Amino acid sequence: MIVVKSLEELSNNPFTSPFALVPTMGNLHEGHINLLEIAREKNFLPVVSIFVNPLQFGPNEDLDKYPRTLDNDLEILEKNNCHGVFIPQENEILKNIEPLEAPFADKLCAKSRPGHFNGVITIVNKLFEVTNPQACVFGMKDFQQQLIIQHLIKTKQYEIQFLSAPVVRDTNGLALSSRNNYLTSKQRTEASKVFTFLSEIQEEIKLSFKKQKKTLPIDLDTIKDNYVQIIENKGFKIDYLEILDSKTLEICQNNSTKILIAIAVFYKQVRLIDNLVVDLSSFS
Ligand code: PAF
Repeated sequence: MIVVKSLEELSNNPFTSPFALVPTMGNLHEGHINLLEIAREKNFLPVVSIFVNPLQFGPNEDLDKYPRTLDNDLEILEKNNCHGVFIPQENEILKNIEPLEAPFADKLCAKSRPGHFNGVITIVNKLFEVTNPQACVFGMKDFQQQLIIQHLIKTKQYEIQFLSAPVVRDTNGLALSSRNNYLTSKQRTEASKVFTFLSEIQEEIKLSFKKQKKTLPIDLDTIKDNYVQIIENKGFKIDYLEILDSKTLEICQNNSTKILIAIAVFYKQVRLIDNLVVDLSSFS
């Protein structure tokens, strides 16, 4: 495995093409390993970057306590035949960085984490510039992040193939996340209810859609309002629950084909996000 720690080393093109960049903040789990698999499935060598990006944390967020487990991460990557790793030095990567503004600033996570996606898009852009990948892999769990990176690739006209990886879940349904480490195993079982709620909402949408002879609009607001109550009653504090057109993140229209159910909740002060996409065209 090729481990690169400086921009100087990077400038010698140490990675073999074609490779896919898998940007991470470390503390790797099975969800990340799946991103490597997706790269390989599409015939790209996986190159992982590990950098806890201070630009994407708000003043009251968990930058200081974010789990940093570099030695273990490298072991995991080695074991999983990762082609390369880029571990930027903070002062080097942030130096003269071009600050970018992310789209969808008034949607979903951007509303409660102002500036977060500006920090994400700024660092991902820099990682693209310095590593020059032929592809990149991002997970569906961060749905809004995916849309934002796709937008970045388009506006900057990068020739980087965007690969999307499905959410990886624990057997109980809990979406894997480094932040799950803040919870005990009992709490993680409780937190898996978030996925149960999403699945139930998905079923309700399907049912209503079928009842209405497969036409929109269905009364998504009522479904949503009911579930806000149900979820809060189960001890979760809702940051948002939204049912939107998955392409535009706007209210669903008659021509919407894919509906995004997205949720962010606080459970034991840990912020958990998850989502499901309902493909209306798939209903028979
Ligand atoms: O998804 C993440 O872990 C981060 O937002 C990313 C893409 C590595 C940028 O810091």
